[in-house]
Amino acid sequence: MGTIYAIANQKGGVGKTTTAVNVAACVAEAGYPTLLVDLDAQCNATVALGLAKDLRPNAYDCLAGESTLVDAAHPTAVERLAIVPAIPDLAAAGMELPRVAGSELRLRSALGDVRERFAFTILDCPPSLGPVTVNALVAADRVIVPVQTEYFALEGLAGLLDTLSLIQRELNPRLTVAGMILTMHDGRTRLARDVERELREHFPALVFDTVIPRNVRLGEAPSFGRPVIHHDPHCAGSDAYFELAREVAARG
Ligand SMILES: Nc1ncnc2c1ncn2[C@@H]1O[C@H](COP(=O)(O)OP(=O)(O)OP(=O)(O)O)[C@@H](O)[C@H]1O
Ligand SMILES: [Mg+2]
Repeated sequence: MGTIYAIANQKGGVGKTTTAVNVAACVAEAGYPTLLVDLDAQCNATVALGLAKDLRPNAYDCLAGESTLVDAAHPTAVERLAIVPAIPDLAAAGMELPRVAGSELRLRSALGDVRERFAFTILDCPPSLGPVTVNALVAADRVIVPVQTEYFALEGLAGLLDTLSLIQRELNPRLTVAGMILTMHDGRTRLARDVERELREHFPALVFDTVIPRNVRLGEAPSFGRPVIHHDPHCAGSDAYFELAREVAARG
């Protein structure tokens, strides 16, 4: 049976999409059928895998109750990796969903037989704790929280963990935190080292051993429409995301 991971942090630009795309590519490369679901109206994950922002069916259709994830899965250039693409209209879902009672269950209802078809399903969330992210957290088994190693990293983290507990209690008792992944880490700066130490002290069991370094290849791979392991398989970013994928799989 497959596992569903949400990649979430309401803070913008912390490495959610980079983590979603590259962990998905690494587990697919390791031999597992994998589905990436782009839940962000920015369509960054969709474009990062070289797909257009106007495909049907898409993630909006799934949230509207008009498709299952399996039916909306499109193949990518990466073997064993499929994607449910986003469209810019997903921005409207954030306003439409709250008007309908029970709408936080839409994505869960759209799972269909995704667990039978895919060993890993990875949900890339938008930078908010709005209705679309709530849908992802209700549908997921585990959450991975990317945390950028910078001064404001800890700010907002308490709020995120509170929201996760609330969803656990009220809507999805099976939800657990797989871990926090430190991203865009620059080991040469004292600030990055301090933030890392503080996070490991606060959340000793949660922070993954792997740290994702700031890496030019990781930043430029999306502009070529491919994951970093296809862009430059031997760069530090590829090594780090392979290591993270191993750690995620090992935590089960
Ligand atoms: N380790 C890294 N090294 C260098 N650049 C990175 C790294 N991780 C992410 N980036 C770049 O930083 C920017 C933000 O990353 P990303 O899009 O993954 O964050 P996000 O949390 O998904 O953002 P949003 O909240 O807008 O969805 C992107 O331009 C991305 O290419
Ligand atoms: Mg993103």
